[in-house]
Amino acid sequence: MEGRPETVRVWDPLVRIGHWTLVAAFATAYVTAGDALEMHEWAGYVVAAYLIVRVIWGIVGADHARFTDFFYGPRRVITYLSDMIRHRARRYLGHSPAGGAMVFALLIMLAGTTVTGMAELASSYGEGPLSGLIQQRSEHLQAQASSDAAVQTGGEEPESALQELHELFANVTLVLILFHVAGVVVASILHRENLVLGMVTGRKASHD
Ligand code: HEM
Repeated sequence: MEGRPETVRVWDPLVRIGHWTLVAAFATAYVTAGDALEMHEWAGYVVAAYLIVRVIWGIVGADHARFTDFFYGPRRVITYLSDMIRHRARRYLGHSPAGGAMVFALLIMLAGTTVTGMAELASSYGEGPLSGLIQQRSEHLQAQASSDAAVQTGGEEPESALQELHELFANVTLVLILFHVAGVVVASILHRENLVLGMVTGRKASHD
């Protein structure tokens, strides 16, 4: 039959609104790191809230949102990627094996980024949701560390190990995001479908 292909709903509203909220929150947190601390923290809390909701939805949510729908194991991820290189990867309605693995990697790295950020906030300023669990470093220790580091760095503000870990998680996440977007573009070309539009409308063609 000619005309528009039949479509089915693949991504529910929670997945779609969650995705684009996450994109805005991560971008805001990334560009405000270092100066607009309050905005940075709030953007980080939005990412943390997204993660909590997404994990619950991954367990109890609708069809393609469930973790069991896109957990394929390493063998199938490798097979999918090598099929992709040979232009013969089969199309998946939900996340492909490689797309699914990337979702898990992103969620884990985002969790690492938010937890280390909140731990740093608690340890340096005694603030935030983890302040009840993590003790603030004593002023004496902070002053000592600052003066030691100032000697080594020539007067620049020193970074704590937690802060460095937080930045490492954020930068690894950014690299994953670049691969994620590249993967979306390549899969869209190979399967001749607009996956980004699918993440907006929630609908994809029902067959190849
Ligand atoms: C901060 C940047 C981004 C992060 C952290 C991110 C994260 C994610 C996550 C976690 C999912 C899984 C959604 C779910 O199952 O709930 C996903 C899927 C998806 N994302 Fe992103 N994303 C980002 C940027 C983008 C951008 C810029 C685009 C558009 C080019 C995009 C397009 C998509 C698409 C099309 C899917 C569905 C993939 C599929 O069909 O299997 N993402 N993303």
